[in-house]
Amino acid sequence: MAELRETAGAVAHDLADDQLTRAVLASFEQSTDDRFRTVMRSLVKHLHAFVREVELTEEEWGLGIDFLTRTGRITTDQRQEFVLLSDVLGVSMLTIGVNNRRPAGATESTVFGPFFVEGSPPFELGDDIARGASGEPCLVQGRVRSLEGEPVAAARIEVWQADDEGLYDVQRAGLDHSRARGHLSSDRDGCYWFWTVRPTAYPIPVDGPVGELLAAAGRGIMRPAHVHFMVEADGFQKLITHVFVAGDPYLGADAVFGVKGSLVAEFERHDPGTAPDGKVMEVPFSTAAYDLVLAPRP
Ligand code: BEZ
Ligand code: FE
Repeated sequence: MAELRETAGAVAHDLADDQLTRAVLASFEQSTDDRFRTVMRSLVKHLHAFVREVELTEEEWGLGIDFLTRTGRITTDQRQEFVLLSDVLGVSMLTIGVNNRRPAGATESTVFGPFFVEGSPPFELGDDIARGASGEPCLVQGRVRSLEGEPVAAARIEVWQADDEGLYDVQRAGLDHSRARGHLSSDRDGCYWFWTVRPTAYPIPVDGPVGELLAAAGRGIMRPAHVHFMVEADGFQKLITHVFVAGDPYLGADAVFGVKGSLVAEFERHDPGTAPDGKVMEVPFSTAAYDLVLAPRP
């Protein structure tokens, strides 16, 4: 206030704004939780800097509040529009990056996404997890191993993916069982293999505020074809990742910035015949091989 009385014009206003920032920062200082103070200090500092930098108008502030309000209203147990917002702003991938600095050679992480379902059905190695999901049959195989190349036996491998129409089972009304999702265990040599359908690129949900944001930006809404994996084994860090289909046209334009080159694998197409697991296929099929390399728990 002293500066306000002493100085006239724009300078006085700038000083007042600075004082405001300092006052808000100070209001968190008495917290006894160090981490809370660190996070709030930085959040306030950057939020205030953002308002100053763009000289946010009151109308824009109102639009922002309305956007967040609608994001909250559309969010339910089945639909998490805030996570989707974080995904399209790259915040999810940045958080994953900051928290998953894995040693060289370990399989990289990527976004979890909204379509994981707790309690997926168990499968034996070699089973077909598609259970009626539409698409070309696809054999996915590989090894779960350590950084040193040792097999990781009995790793729990959760898999989920979209069908050839780009839909997850949970997006289809009226299904009485899951499709193209399940979990299995690696064998004593760390090997895993299962049948599914060849995954397809699909759009993220865009019928809410996040869709409006992408439309306003003229941004793409597609995710390149992928299979989701979540792998857990004793003594190793949990791995949440995807395996992407090489050659997918959206690899360079993922709406949620989730692609890493190391996660792209060939999904080879084959004419009818005998598949690598000995299954005789009467229709064309695909095969993909991807080793899942786990980092040790610190
Ligand atoms: C997914 O891969 O399932 C996904 C990830 C982020 C946003 C939407 C979908
Ligand atoms: Fe997905």
